[in-house]
Amino acid sequence: MVQKSIVLGISGGIAAYKAAGLASLLVKQGFQVQTVMTKAATEFITPLTLQALTKQPVYVDVLAEQDPTRISHVAMADQADAIIIAPATADVIARIAHGLADDMLTSILLVARCPVIVAPSMNVHMYEHPLVQKNLHVLRELGYIIAEPDEGMLACGYVGKGRLLEPSDLAEILSFALSPKPLQGKKILVTAGPTKERIDPVRYVTNDSTGTMGYALARCAWKLGAHVTLLSGAVNLLPGIGIDVISVSSAIHLQEEVEKRIAEVDMFIMTAAVADYRPQTTYDYKWKKTDDVDTVTWTMVRNPDILVSLKGKYKPGAYVIGFAAETHDVDRYARKKLVDKGVDLLVVNNVLEYGAGFGTGTNRVDLYFQDGRTTALPLASKMDVATMILQQALVRMGLVDDEGMQA
Ligand code: C5P
Repeated sequence: MVQKSIVLGISGGIAAYKAAGLASLLVKQGFQVQTVMTKAATEFITPLTLQALTKQPVYVDVLAEQDPTRISHVAMADQADAIIIAPATADVIARIAHGLADDMLTSILLVARCPVIVAPSMNVHMYEHPLVQKNLHVLRELGYIIAEPDEGMLACGYVGKGRLLEPSDLAEILSFALSPKPLQGKKILVTAGPTKERIDPVRYVTNDSTGTMGYALARCAWKLGAHVTLLSGAVNLLPGIGIDVISVSSAIHLQEEVEKRIAEVDMFIMTAAVADYRPQTTYDYKWKKTDDVDTVTWTMVRNPDILVSLKGKYKPGAYVIGFAAETHDVDRYARKKLVDKGVDLLVVNNVLEYGAGFGTGTNRVDLYFQDGRTTALPLASKMDVATMILQQALVRMGLVDDEGMQA
């Protein structure tokens, strides 16, 4: 694979030290990182640190041309697959918004034709100042991606919006910027994780789903340009940047939240592990044991099958993906569920197979399509499996061709 080249622009804010972490992460991810620092940035972190982390020369002065055979700011802009400015101070944002080319970083930006990410970091009042917001608006209008800062404790002592995003979040945004966007403008609804069926305020019936597969599909869809809403049961996962997450509890609650949105979405991915039954009675108070009762029988009632209940409610042309975990007679159950659930694609895993199912980082699935065709995917990380599933769905939606090129 051809190594991608990233220009990392660092301007002079206190968060400049975090740029070292970002440089290191990007190098680990296999990028060639070319660092460009403003003069002020060198007061906060030394060029030598970045040079050592990236194994590349660091550029500061646009006039200090070392190599007579090239003009550095033009060559770097031409070579870059993406540019990320982290941290971006109010000053550098203003200079970019006004088209200045008074140092190496701003000069590169005027030549560049690749995606540019600007990650502001500053005092909260500075960030909220109408002039800063106006300049950011100009950059957005021009297609720059603004990596909005986090809220939290700021170096100046204030608490508010202005913290530079963490390197892992910035790397995600970069990966987004570099991915093709066949799902641009599409809305996708993903459900993930287990449902909780309440017995009383402190007890519930649930299952082992960790939500990993659904979260991976949500991430993948976001990277492909979709607007993603994730309805999530209780899991220990962070959805990452860019995804709208709504917490859900029981099957009934999940069904309500799905119903509110289903007519609007272009793709629906139902990975949630919905409890088949719920306690008939949910007590408002803690159910107490008694000395004279040794055994207890709970009456459970059937939950609605959400997929079945959605038939006829989808937006015309919407693509629907269901999941099924099986332990035996996989092919027979899969073909029946494909019809019963009214999905375009059923992703089936035999949870007894090595590396498949709940709580593993990997998965091995078979795809069953409406037209009767099936495809066995190889054992792979859940993120890679998510990519392969979406790839197949996009081909069937006519959004990419068999080679994965945007149609
Ligand atoms: O019936 P089974 O649980 O195997 O079906 C799996 C598929 O059906 C999954 O996509 C799951 O999210 C969905 N499902 C549902 N409503 C239920 C149970 C499962 O939509 N009550």
